[in-house]
Amino acid sequence: MIRKCLFPVAGYGTRFLPATKSMPKEMLPIVNKPLVQYGVEESIEAGLKQIALVTGRGKRAIADHFDISFELENQIAGTSKESYLTSIRKVLSEGTFMMTRQREMKGLGHAILTGESLVGNEAFGVILSDDLCLNDGDGVMGQMVKLYNQFRCSIVAIQEVPMAEIEKYGVIAGDDMGGGLFRVKDMVEKPSADEAPSNLAVIGRYILTPDIFDILRDTPPGKNGEIQLTDALMTQAQNGCVLAYKFSGRRFDCGSVPGFIEATNYVYENIYQDGQG
Ligand code: G1P
Repeated sequence: MIRKCLFPVAGYGTRFLPATKSMPKEMLPIVNKPLVQYGVEESIEAGLKQIALVTGRGKRAIADHFDISFELENQIAGTSKESYLTSIRKVLSEGTFMMTRQREMKGLGHAILTGESLVGNEAFGVILSDDLCLNDGDGVMGQMVKLYNQFRCSIVAIQEVPMAEIEKYGVIAGDDMGGGLFRVKDMVEKPSADEAPSNLAVIGRYILTPDIFDILRDTPPGKNGEIQLTDALMTQAQNGCVLAYKFSGRRFDCGSVPGFIEATNYVYENIYQDGQG
């Protein structure tokens, strides 16, 4: 059974400066809820209740968010405003939170490896909270957990994207197994449109088997001089099996300003209810 989900939350959020100068990008709200809380709710819903945060300098607001605020509780307990705390109270009562700090920004693969001491020797989920995924029914991580229970190997979420945008993503090619599943044969981090093996882009949801840590330790820096999870997954695919899964649901690229605005409008129009925190 998968119990843990790792959240790499150490990045700088340069595209949202100056807002992210002293505030973690993961705390930017989509209407009234920070991005990272959407990801944590998706994880808990999927049964992954042990949340492992790989944070960095300047990210204390995230640790505070997943803790009790005594002053606030004291101030609004018993008032009509209490309902604004409903969602975060639920997260705190169901989840447990662990943290470690990534001291240097050496890529997503390095962030995952930094989380090894929190994860240990068991399969785990990874959620990149920049990718906000919303849908009715099982969330993306929940869908992937079901597949993991069936196949017992690493799984990455994928989505078809226009070729003009392919260079922003890890890209896979593989054998179509039906039902939106592919057995990964090739995987490239941020290729140009000419080099891309397909239009199937990796979205920020992964289930990883723990052998990924040893592979990451041996993975040399790749694209942009960073240790790439994509490269480690390619090694895993060559040695054993990695699946890619075209999930059902909507995904918003909240790491970009247009995606962030699109998500904000969508949540405001379809999900947000005033007085419901
Ligand atoms: C990361 C991964 C990339 C993946 C993307 C999904 O890139 O390296 O393979 O496609 O997340 O959002 P980043 O967006 O952090 O540069």
